[in-house]
Amino acid sequence: MTAFIFPPFENHGGHLTLDNVDLVDLNEKMGSPLLVVSEKKIRENYRSLDQAFRKQYSKFAIRYAVKSYANLAIISILRQEGAGADCSTPEEIKIANMAGIPHKLITFTPNNSHKNELEYGIEKGVSLNFDDIPQMRLVKGHLPEVVSFRVNPGVGGGEFPGIVTAGPKTKFGIPVDVVKGAYKEAMSLGADKFGMQMMAGSNALDWHHFDAISKAYFGLAGKISQELEIQFKYLDIGGGFGVPYRKDQEELDLESAAGCIVNNLREACSKYGMDEPELIVEPGRSLVSNSAVLLGKVTNVKSYDKTFVGTDIGMNLLLRPALYGAYHHIVIANALGREPEGEADIVGQICESTDKIGNDMMFPKAEVGDTIAVFNAGAYVSSMSSNYNGHLRPAEILIGPQGVSVIRNAESTSDLVKGMNVPEHLLK
Ligand code: LLP
Repeated sequence: MTAFIFPPFENHGGHLTLDNVDLVDLNEKMGSPLLVVSEKKIRENYRSLDQAFRKQYSKFAIRYAVKSYANLAIISILRQEGAGADCSTPEEIKIANMAGIPHKLITFTPNNSHKNELEYGIEKGVSLNFDDIPQMRLVKGHLPEVVSFRVNPGVGGGEFPGIVTAGPKTKFGIPVDVVKGAYKEAMSLGADKFGMQMMAGSNALDWHHFDAISKAYFGLAGKISQELEIQFKYLDIGGGFGVPYRKDQEELDLESAAGCIVNNLREACSKYGMDEPELIVEPGRSLVSNSAVLLGKVTNVKSYDKTFVGTDIGMNLLLRPALYGAYHHIVIANALGREPEGEADIVGQICESTDKIGNDMMFPKAEVGDTIAVFNAGAYVSSMSSNYNGHLRPAEILIGPQGVSVIRNAESTSDLVKGMNVPEHLLK
């Protein structure tokens, strides 16, 4: 039985390849571990999302959630496709801008910010969404041209409790019954142009989720528009478009998701006499997740009361399984035809028992020196990695029309101590 692999990755003679590049050889040559990204896949992902919306609603914009993978080359690919950026900190704004995205195409949705962080966004003229009313008050003397709030429409949803970002008892946004007061206060401070933003949760694979959240959200926007007699320049529905991580999961039906979002927007516009605003989405995962694999090596196999496949990829590089219990499909990249043998935990080199990248996974008999490939490594992998236990972050490689490019160098020891100072009295 040949191991299942997600496209655009392919099986050539039992080896995992991407655009005819043998990834087993690449990992050998460039050093393990290694993150390998497909430029073509990112472009394809962008185009299918863009088309699903744009053909129904032309005042539409995609702002890439930089937090999902904040590499300059990756942001540049999306900038070439026409994306703006969604940022959560001034530093992300700077990175997006370095990759060529102009400030006017940047959305800034921070939470619990310092005054100077909000001021940075206002100064640069990005679309700032305040997470709460007191955050607006911090800058009431110099509000942005368009005043916008992140709202919590009362419904949320996501793959794990840890990635649900709206609904009861979530830390983000302004609850439904407080939203009107927020805009009223903005008006009393002199605001005359408005926006509204929401983000319900991440990795939703069922399009009905988008129907439910957009109905609640656009209905709320419509009511505010009618009762306060204001218009919204933009309504931003956040990201959250899911991707399959398991071989038996179905892809999100993007046409239906986009269709119901646009219908719900149009219905709210006609019901509440609201002008059609710019519709913004802020996808991260759906643009980059399936474009990359993380390659590593099997370093030990331990089989006593349980089988542990020890590798050079741990929670330092792939935090999601330890943090959320997330599943990532893993194969032996140099032996895709090897039969599954039994259940194993796939683990890393970190001194923590939670250091697992695969839990009770049906896995072939692994051997020291095998190359493993972890799928869906584009989103929330590099950006959530750390140097814990003195591990260096690996090189990141882009495979595109130009061939193979290093888009991030592997770290070295000097990166681990960068910025540290030893006071004089500790030098002796
Ligand atoms: N916009 C805002 C304001 C967000 O907070 C997020 C994600 C996004 C956009 C992008 O969402 P996406 O399209 O990627 O679902 N670290 C977690 C995901 C947390 C998402 C938090 N916010 C994970 O590894 O699954």
